[in-house]
Amino acid sequence: MMFENKIIDEKKQGSALLINKKSSKKDKKVYIESYGCQMNFSDSEIVASILQKIGYETTRDIKLANLILINTCSIREKAEQTVRKRLDFFRASKNKETTIGILGCMAERLKSKFLEEEKLVDLVVGPDAYRDLPNLLKEVNDGRKAINVLLSKEETYADLSPVRLDKNGITSFVSIMRGCDNMCSFCVVPFTRGRERSREPKTILNEIKDLESKGYKEVTLLGQNVDSYLWTGGGLKKDFQKLSNEAKKNSTNFAQLLDFVAKNTSMRIRFSTSHPKDMTDEVLHTMAKYKNICKYIHLPVQSGSSKILKLMNRGYDRDWYLNRIKSIKKIIPECGISMDIITGFCNENEQDHLDTLTLMKAVKYDFGYMFKYSERPNTLAERKYNDNVPDKIKSRRLREIIDLQQKHSLEQNKKFIGRTCEVLVEGFSKKSNDDFFGRTTQNTVAVFPKGKVKIGSTVNVLITSCTSATLLGKIIN
Ligand code: 5AD
Ligand code: SF4
Repeated sequence: MMFENKIIDEKKQGSALLINKKSSKKDKKVYIESYGCQMNFSDSEIVASILQKIGYETTRDIKLANLILINTCSIREKAEQTVRKRLDFFRASKNKETTIGILGCMAERLKSKFLEEEKLVDLVVGPDAYRDLPNLLKEVNDGRKAINVLLSKEETYADLSPVRLDKNGITSFVSIMRGCDNMCSFCVVPFTRGRERSREPKTILNEIKDLESKGYKEVTLLGQNVDSYLWTGGGLKKDFQKLSNEAKKNSTNFAQLLDFVAKNTSMRIRFSTSHPKDMTDEVLHTMAKYKNICKYIHLPVQSGSSKILKLMNRGYDRDWYLNRIKSIKKIIPECGISMDIITGFCNENEQDHLDTLTLMKAVKYDFGYMFKYSERPNTLAERKYNDNVPDKIKSRRLREIIDLQQKHSLEQNKKFIGRTCEVLVEGFSKKSNDDFFGRTTQNTVAVFPKGKVKIGSTVNVLITSCTSATLLGKIIN
């Protein structure tokens, strides 16, 4: 893992750009734009909380902001291109009073290179260094560019109260762990988010209770691999073996965390993301035991071919995955299941692609997120394998996978027609102010005439029709 933490003094570098921003308290307005995974959106709320302590107010109007932060994603090349394009837009509107900062995975991946490549950027901060923002902003105010991309063994931001930015006031995220130890060969995350570490259960529950007291009804517990959650008193997951037997015995695994949270709150609970190699029956039984744990699992498969899964270093094969699915369906028969699939990974041939299609047919996912393989710098796949599936073939295979998934989503949704589903009302539907939308326990979106119910209430909806993406119905209570 690369560590870097330095302040770049532009005056010393002889750069033409000299920034001198004297900000008074009344100026302090921050605009934060987030890209990528839910964890990034949750991190932006932590950043807002850190900035609030030094007098920053958040704004949704970029024109009012004198601090613009972009929380970036590196997972695919396209995600990085989106951020670069966004910077072009900022370039046009930046004046000398505005500070522009890059947060998140691109900051961590590119480090000081970002400041060299994008002259308008003043600040580069990696995912574990947000507590340093007040100091870094002082550096910027003194006319220097500032960077901190140090990765941490301990940081979980456990004690902070995030400022809720995406306010529907009903659903929210709570991060339970950070980093990833898995080293899937295609994935940049272990390099950008560091080693796995878990957050203390008590602080997780406190955050959930706080949300509950503010009227929130649903919480999603977040981690790169929640099934690997393990609280042992602090520190890295990889150091578990070094602990005393007593400490091991007193540790909390993910199933125990779920149990602890579910029995101490009446909030609806979801979690993401699960990993097929680590998901235990204990977790499934805990889900089955509590009504307030939603019956939905996002279980990325990535490929249906054991050969490709091995090259991907996923730690399971096709049979293992199908066996996990069998357990889900046995222990929680009504469980919604979704996936991630990458198509066109190195050495993927037609047979491997067919294996993915047959696996999809065997599982019948409710929905999924499907991507073309995008080679990422420094990953094992980039160093060892050839990105040798032509883009045209990747596109064709992706089309076939998406088409099949749409067919399955429609079939799965049709099964709900005539049934009554419990739905948490989240807000107005995109298409009409006369309709509300919400999600079923399986995480499927339902749309229905709003009647007299309030946003935040739980209603019974009789499903009368559907599309591949949405259930349509009417309230019956
Ligand atoms: N190319 C394409 N998709 C990727 N993902 C992760 N890395 C890559 C990559 N290099 C996908 C995986 C993962 C999801 C979050 O993004 O499917 O589960
Ligand atoms: Fe990336 Fe694999 Fe970790 Fe997911 S489990 S973040 S795909 S390395």
